Amino acid sequence: MIKVITYGTFDLLHYGHVRLLERAKALGDYLIVGVTADDFDKSRGKINVQQSLMERVEAVRETGLADEIIIEEYEGQKIDDIRRYEIDIFTVGSDWVGKFDYLKAYCKVVYLDRTQGISSSNIREKKQKIRLGFMGSSPMIDKFIRESRYVNGIEIAGVCARKEIVKDKSIYVTDDYEELMDRSDAVYIVSLPRQHDADVLKALQKGKSVLCESPVALSAAKNEELFTVAREQGCVLMESIKTAYATAYSRLLLLVKGGKIGAVYSVDATCTSLQKPNSDSWNSICAWGPTALLPVFQILGCEYRSKEIVSYLEKDGYDKFTRISFVYDHAVASVKVGKAVKSEGERIISGTKGYIYVPAPWWKTDYFEVRYEDQTQNKRYFYQLDGEGIRYELLAFCKSIETGKNGSYIEQSVSKAISGVIEDFYRRTDCKEI
Ligand code: CTP
Repeated sequence: MIKVITYGTFDLLHYGHVRLLERAKALGDYLIVGVTADDFDKSRGKINVQQSLMERVEAVRETGLADEIIIEEYEGQKIDDIRRYEIDIFTVGSDWVGKFDYLKAYCKVVYLDRTQGISSSNIREKKQKIRLGFMGSSPMIDKFIRESRYVNGIEIAGVCARKEIVKDKSIYVTDDYEELMDRSDAVYIVSLPRQHDADVLKALQKGKSVLCESPVALSAAKNEELFTVAREQGCVLMESIKTAYATAYSRLLLLVKGGKIGAVYSVDATCTSLQKPNSDSWNSICAWGPTALLPVFQILGCEYRSKEIVSYLEKDGYDKFTRISFVYDHAVASVKVGKAVKSEGERIISGTKGYIYVPAPWWKTDYFEVRYEDQTQNKRYFYQLDGEGIRYELLAFCKSIETGKNGSYIEQSVSKAISGVIEDFYRRTDCKEI
C-alpha cells in the first residue's frame, strides 16, 4: 500500500484545495491530510485564517478524499509524521517547490502544480471589509491601528483624537465623534474611563458595533444596560482586555479548569507601571484593575463573599496604589495595581496539587510554569505572543460582527463584575485608605 501525506491550512476550502487533494490521493492508495492548527499558523504569520480548526477539518472531511485527517501542531512535526505513519510520498502544491526537499531523506517528495487564479487569501480579500473607527487620544490608539493591519477584513475608517496621537499621516483624523461614526461600521473606544459608557451608548444607538477598552462603564448597572442596548440593536459589544487573547493566558485557564493544580484556593496578581500621576482619570484602578481582576473572576467566578479595597490616595482621589482582597466560599484572591508604586508583576495561582507561576509581566507573557512539591514534575509552557494579544482580539471582534455570534473571550458577567469593583472604589464601598 502506498501512503501519501499532504499538509495545508485549507481555510475557506476552494477548488484549488480539492484539485490538490484529488491528485494527492491519486499518487497512492491511502491519503493522510494534515490540517494546520491555529496556533501553528499564527506563528507562521497566517493570522488571517477565518475558519476555526474544527471548521477546516470538517471541510476537508466533507471532500471525502482524505482517508485520515491529522492536526499539524508544531514545527518539525512532518518528519515525525512521516516516520510514524510510514509515509511513502509527501506532496504539496508547487508554491512550495524546494521548501520540503529536506524530507527526501525520509520519503519521496512530489510538488503538484498549483491551480491558478484562486487562493484562500484571495477569497478573504474579496469579503466585505469592516470599516473600523478609532476613538480616543490614548497612545493605545496607535498600537491598535498598527495591529489592525495584521487582521484581514479591517479597513481603517479614521480616528477621532488629538492630531498628534496619530503617527500615520495617511489616516483620516477628526475631532468630531459623530463624523467618525458616520464613516465606520464599528468603533474601538479608548477615550477616558468616565466617558466610556456615553461613547459606547452613542455608537450602539447608531447601530455600530463596539470594542471598548476596559472598564466599559464605572458601574455594574451601566455595564448591564450597555450590553442590553447592544443586544437590542443587534450590535456586538466587546470589552477590550488584550491579555485575555494572549495564547499563554488562555491555555493557562484551560489547564487550571482541567484540574492540573487541583482545587484552586488562591489567585494573586500584580500589575504596576511607574508613570507620572496625571489628571486623565486613568488612575491605578482603571488602568490596571481590569487586567488584574480578569484572572480572579475567570478562575474563581464573580460571586465573592466579601472584599476589601485599600488605596493609597492623592487628595484628588487619584489612587497611586490599590490592593483588593477577595474572600470566596472556598478561596481567596488578591490583586495589587499601581501607577506610582513599583512591584513584581507576577501572577500565582495556588491549588491543592501544585501552583502556576507566571513571571513579570504576566499580562503579556508567552510563558508560565506549573510547579509541584516534587520538582521533577514541574513543567514549563511556551506560546508565541504576537502583538500582545491585540490582533487576536481584533480578529475575534471582526468574527463576532461577521457571524453574529459572540466571540469575546471575556464573559459578560466578568465585565460586569469589573465595573462593579470600580464602582465600589469610586463610591468608597468596602474601601480603606492609607
Ligand atoms: N493549493 C493549490 N492551488 C491553489 C491553492 C492551494 O494547489 N490555488 C494547495 C497548496 O499548494 C497547498 C494546499 O493547497 O498544498 C493547501 O494550501 P493552503 O495554503 O491552505 O491554501 P492557499 O489558498 O494557498 O492559502 P493562502 O492564500 O492563505 O496562502
